[in-house]
Amino acid sequence: MSNEMKSLAPDAAQIADTNTQIKENTMTAANSNPTVTETQNVNNSIQEEAMTSAVNTQTAAAPNTNPQIIDVPMDKLSVPVSHPRRNSGDLETLEKSIRKNGLLEPLTVCKSDGDDFYMVIDGTRRLTALKDFGWKAVPCIQVKSMLLGEIAHYAFEKNMERRTLSPIEIALHLRSMKEKYEYSLRDLDALGYGSATKISQQIRLLDLPAKVKDMIENAELTAAHGVALGKLSNATQQEKMAKRAFDFGWSAKRLEITIDKLVKKSKAPKEKVSIPEGKIPGVYFKDSKDMSELPDKSVHLIVTSPPYCVGMEFEKGISYAEHWENMQEVMTESARVLVPGGIMALNVGDIHNYKGPDGKAKQSQIQLVGHKYQGFLRRHQIYLSDIVLWVKGTNAHSKDVSKLITDKTPHTGYRILISHDPVYIFRKAGEREVPSEQAATNSVLTKEEWTRWASGIWAIDRVRKMEGHPAMYPDELAYRLIKMFSYEGETVLDPFLGSGTTMKVARQLGREAFGYEREVQYKPVIMEKLGVGEDGVITQSMVGFAKEMMIREDAEELVTKAEAEAAEKMLADEADVAETVTAE
Ligand SMILES: C[S@@+](CC[C@H](N)C(=O)[O-])C[C@H]1O[C@@H](n2cnc3c(N)ncnc32)[C@H](O)[C@@H]1O
Repeated sequence: MSNEMKSLAPDAAQIADTNTQIKENTMTAANSNPTVTETQNVNNSIQEEAMTSAVNTQTAAAPNTNPQIIDVPMDKLSVPVSHPRRNSGDLETLEKSIRKNGLLEPLTVCKSDGDDFYMVIDGTRRLTALKDFGWKAVPCIQVKSMLLGEIAHYAFEKNMERRTLSPIEIALHLRSMKEKYEYSLRDLDALGYGSATKISQQIRLLDLPAKVKDMIENAELTAAHGVALGKLSNATQQEKMAKRAFDFGWSAKRLEITIDKLVKKSKAPKEKVSIPEGKIPGVYFKDSKDMSELPDKSVHLIVTSPPYCVGMEFEKGISYAEHWENMQEVMTESARVLVPGGIMALNVGDIHNYKGPDGKAKQSQIQLVGHKYQGFLRRHQIYLSDIVLWVKGTNAHSKDVSKLITDKTPHTGYRILISHDPVYIFRKAGEREVPSEQAATNSVLTKEEWTRWASGIWAIDRVRKMEGHPAMYPDELAYRLIKMFSYEGETVLDPFLGSGTTMKVARQLGREAFGYEREVQYKPVIMEKLGVGEDGVITQSMVGFAKEMMIREDAEELVTKAEAEAAEKMLADEADVAETVTAE
């Protein structure tokens, strides 16, 4: 309590002295059956108006050196509108106590000279309870007259001692101290409310949307969460983020970091991609439903990842029905260019938030996808022969895994995170031509490679930094597929080229490579990956190839390491989950 307030507050000893007397009085009142059943309807704001002029115009009244205990008629008691407590909460315990022990602590009131009303500066809950009991008069300690701002401050401190105010009530109080009673931030700091920055941040909680304020009021989020949400500029975002923070049990710090990143991203001017002139050998910037540059039966292996239709930047504004139409056209062209016995490796995941072909269904569900390609390609005598499960290591949301189970998660309502994607291996009917013996000898897998890859579960960490393209797959995935399913010198095609990963790896492995990409904005990243200069000349591919081959001499060690790391991460996540569940 500040010194100023100490001088205004009644002396605790004096209160104690008078308690016995009050108790006697009030016990009788509490136990008696009051004749006045309806309490006076005190119109607080009108009374406060009346008092405002009376109290505010007076200069500091003489301090009450001896606070008196007086019985004040119920209809003369008024609660200032500025009182920080917005509702009385659950009064059951208090009412029980009054019924049992009488009123143990009188209300604290003040009154200005010549005025009829008494302002309640402490004891609003008790007052409400006593009204319910039908008391006609209430024992009160009268302290010296105070300015309304002082009353508000005193009432606030009393409530803070009992820790009963929510962050929103505190913010409302601070705002009225500042705006209504014209305390400067410096005054408030001196009264013990904290620094100017802290006070301003607290007041800004009131600018949050009602839903978010309710969450703070109900202790679903803290004031610190509210401060972080204040950095977002619109109410919809604030509500969404608040819900996310609550659902995932994010700490305020975690929420702040996420919001800071978001704000930084949206502030950063979108970099304009400058698209270099010139051709990139083997790359066609066009829709791959027309690959007329490639003759029939000219491609030995297709390695690709079609768009999934999950709202990526390259598939915006297109319904699933339209998307699937496009995919069928590209598959028809792919079937045409594939040699008999040729292989098509499709990395295509299921859609985890599918809302029907037009995207408007209420209930979202998982849409399995592989069978659609299987059914369609069958018509072209291209058959599903193998499935690889690409385990991508820990999910982008891995840090939240442990938070997915909260006390709000109903048993049986648990969800599974996506941390893997299938790669479907299709083979076209017909005899596969075998190239020269030298190519065959150079291409064959080592026993170790075959043993490891044949397991069908490939733990390869996802690309962590998507620079230049939002959906790249790792080189290692393309590397294994190209090594397994083509011979050196053969032709590899990627009809959904993206950043050019397939072509890069294919060339490094001594294959001919072609790619189609509809979006010219990915030209810079494709050029970089393929080591193409502005003049269209491939400058680095052989260097890259040699380097890659050198690395691949210790491929086994590398792969083992990558797999061990991915497995370790997964185990660590599982341990996290187990720990949280046990703790809860
Ligand atoms: C999932 S990404 C491929 C990413 C690639 N695997 C990588 O590692 O960079 C799919 C790409 O296909 C492109 N695309 C989608 N439909 C296409 C079409 N009909 N013709 C050509 N490109 C298309 C998209 O623009 C996108 O870049």
